[in-house]
Formats: sequence, C-alpha cells, structure tokens
Amino acid sequence: MAETILHIENLSKAFVRSIKTARKKDAIEKISLLNHLDLTVEKGKITALIGGNGSGKTTLFNIINGFLDADQGSIKFINGRIHELLGKKPDTIARLGLGRSFQDNHIFDELSILENMLVAGKETFGETPFVSLFSPGRNRKIEKQKTERAKTIIENIFGSGNYFWQHKAEKAKNLSHGQRRILGLLRIFMADFKLVLLDEPTTGVNPEFFQSITDILNRMVNENKMSVFLIEHNMGFVKQVAHNCHFIHDGCIRASGTPAEVIDNPLVRNTYLGF
Ligand SMILES: Nc1ncnc2c1ncn2[C@@H]1O[C@H](COP(=O)(O)OP(=O)(O)OP(=O)(O)O)[C@@H](O)[C@H]1O
Ligand SMILES: [Mg+2]
Repeated sequence: MAETILHIENLSKAFVRSIKTARKKDAIEKISLLNHLDLTVEKGKITALIGGNGSGKTTLFNIINGFLDADQGSIKFINGRIHELLGKKPDTIARLGLGRSFQDNHIFDELSILENMLVAGKETFGETPFVSLFSPGRNRKIEKQKTERAKTIIENIFGSGNYFWQHKAEKAKNLSHGQRRILGLLRIFMADFKLVLLDEPTTGVNPEFFQSITDILNRMVNENKMSVFLIEHNMGFVKQVAHNCHFIHDGCIRASGTPAEVIDNPLVRNTYLGF
C-alpha cells in the first residue's frame, strides 16, 4: 500500500473583494475558491494537479507552503513525524522539507547561474536568501561546499562539459526561457527537500527541453527520493511523467486516478479538455 506524504482535508479558502454595484455603491463580493477540498499526495511518486485557469491551483500551492492562510481545514505533511502546516510560516515549512518552484520561476536576473544555485537551499529559502551570498567571510566554507554540490547536481543530470556548468558565471537574464525553467528546477536539488511543489514546469518551454525536464523530475523521485506535486496544463507531459493525477473544479477535487483515467473522465473532458 502506498504511503502518504501530504494529506489535505476539508480545506476552504474564500477571497473577498470590494466591487461597485449597479447603483455605484461599494459592496463586498465573496469568492469561494476552495470548498472543503480533500487531496492526498503519495510518497515517492509524481502527482499532477490539473484544472482550468483560475480554478485555484496556484492558490492551493500558496496555502500549502504558507504564503496564504486558509479559512478552515488541515494540511498534514508526513515526513517521519506528522506536521500540521496550516499556521506555519514559509521558511518553517521549507525547513521541514517542503520546497517549491513558481509559475513565474523566481530566478534572480542579475545573479549568475551559479549564484542562483547558491542562494537556494533550505537554510536560505525563507527570509534571508542573500545571507550566504553576501557575507563571504562567515560562510566561505559553506559556500565552497555548496559550489561543489551545485557542480555535482548539474553534472549528474547533464554530464561533464555541459552548458550550465561551462556558463556558470553567465547572468541568468541572458538565458533562454527554457534554460531559466531548468535552472529553477536545478535549484531545488540544493536543498534536502522531501516534497516539492512545481507550478507549471513546462509552461512556455520549447519541446526540445521537455526531455530534460522529464529526466530531472524522474531523478528527483528515483535518485533523490523526493515526492513531486506539480501543476500542469500540458496533458501529454502529465501522461508522460505523472503516476497520479487530480482534477480540481468548482473548488474541490472532482476526479483522481492515473493520468489516463482522469483524462478519460467525462467531467474532465467536458469542463476542461473540451472534447
Ligand atoms: N489574493 C487574492 N485576492 C483575491 N483574489 C485572488 C487572490 N489570489 C488569487 N485570487 C483569484 O483566485 C482565482 C484563482 O487563482 P489561481 O492563481 O489560484 O488560479 P490557477 O488555477 O493557478 O490558474 P492558472 O491555471 O491560470 O494559473 C483567480 O480568479 C484569482 O484572481
Ligand atoms: Mg496558476
């Protein structure tokens, strides 16, 4: 029987915003985005979350990693011990072993490839990402170790004499979109995460990079024993990489199973895939 690494129960989140009514009066509109959502992520697997634009996928990730509060529910992260994540801060959650990438990637343009790798890591993931980079005396030994780690990560994936290590001093702003996406994924290996949330890893990426991204995700799970929970719109990619799939619609999970099963579900076809 599969082990669980993340267990979400009865999670609800509404946003309120002020609107002008037809009589030009201010009013409050409440949008219930997540409604009593239940979801499980299996340990050692790649799990995909699919659903339409604005269905709440990124919001769910923001709640899991502590950027947003929920209105009710529980999120249990099971990593040796059971940790309730709701109410914890992002850096505490990262230190527990839960990392993430972002829909807009969060690469530092003015930093080099290597520097972008060095600022990643559990110990610098939260409030003070620049500490290790800009206090050289204090952290020279740690920086050397991290540089070695970055080199090993990059060479394990791309072999020796690869583009990324050869261009490690290149500023990130000079990389292509696909290369930046891959850099965003490489950074995740710098920390010892047990579960990583990836928000649309292939969006805007040329298909020539898909195989590299697939290799990286498989390496996360097979060699580094991470579990991966990813948001994705590309169904071909989901079928290729994911073991499990959940479909979010109207605030809760409306279909779960293998990617093939979920893609075949009539509700998923009618409301999301459009065929
Ligand atoms: N802080 C906020 N205040 C008010 N509304 C918000 C807030 N954050 C998100 N929303 C709204 O919640 C809805 C869901 O947004 P979210 O980014 O979670 O969607 P998504 O499923 O990730 O969509 P996409 O596939 O386009 O990335 C959107 O309509 C968005 O405008
Ligand atoms: Mg999103």
